[in-house]
Amino acid sequence: MPAIDPALIPENLRPAIEAMCATGAKLSRVIARGPLAGALGAGVGENSDGDQQKALDVMADEMFEAALRGTGVKYYASEEQEDVLTIDEGGTLALATDPLDGSSNIDVNVTIGTIFSIFEAAGGAQASFLRPASDQICAGYIAYGPQTLLAVTFGAGTMLFVLDPETGAFVLADKAMDLPAAAKEFSINASNRRHWTQPVLAYVEENETGKDGRKGKDMNFRWVGSLVAETHRILTRGGTFLYPSDARKGYENGRLRMVYEVAPMAFLVEQAGGKATDGVAPIMSLTAEELHERRPFVFGSAEEVDRIAALHG
Ligand code: F6P
Repeated sequence: MPAIDPALIPENLRPAIEAMCATGAKLSRVIARGPLAGALGAGVGENSDGDQQKALDVMADEMFEAALRGTGVKYYASEEQEDVLTIDEGGTLALATDPLDGSSNIDVNVTIGTIFSIFEAAGGAQASFLRPASDQICAGYIAYGPQTLLAVTFGAGTMLFVLDPETGAFVLADKAMDLPAAAKEFSINASNRRHWTQPVLAYVEENETGKDGRKGKDMNFRWVGSLVAETHRILTRGGTFLYPSDARKGYENGRLRMVYEVAPMAFLVEQAGGKATDGVAPIMSLTAEELHERRPFVFGSAEEVDRIAALHG
């Protein structure tokens, strides 16, 4: 039995998406066993950007890389690998992934995920990924939470699938996710407040003033610490997410990586009717210059993302 209905996937992407789903289902079983599967959250090294790698980061990377061989993916780029790997000389696709997002939540049984982005391979290994985000032909995330979910876009809306643990298959649950234009929640790591720029501070203060201020409504605050969990909540019931640039050393462009975090989430959000910017410019109009580069990231309900851009004006 296939891990996802091939009829819902463009033909050239079927083997790669099937591999992502089958591997996601396998990984969800490992994650569900938690400490029974070993010390998944144990530190095992550092990635190219100096982030600590956890055992599950490395395991997930190895699983996806192995599963994608022979599926039409020529180039494989991962947060966990410094350079792009050529995994199939005859392939036509370039797939970038954060194989395990939200790794600080591994040991505390909070939702974590896998994010991926696919381009047509063109112009060489690095060049295939250093392209306008609008060149993506597919983006998705798998969320490992109370349910294991796949949200995926091929450029014609964002579909949601739920893993049926009884069969190991991802089953269509929503063929067109619809991100509400208005928000009642916002997400930002508030511990960085003293490092924020003025427009970010102004936006958060408007939210805090709630119905007593310009906003005219109260806003709730949420911070999970897993981009996948945050994105899924916002796709489902609206909201805003900000990981802006701030004054800390190394955070001039925020924290999140353009190629395998920001660009795919922006594609999914826009295809569900939301907006995604770097604060001002639409992410989909931007091009990564380096594989692991960071980008300030603001996304969610259109009204809120527009307001944040206006505050930057
Ligand atoms: O990969 C980066 C990530 O773990 C995201 O999943 C999450 O949104 C963010 O970092 C959390 O950042 P912080 O450590 O500042 O809370």
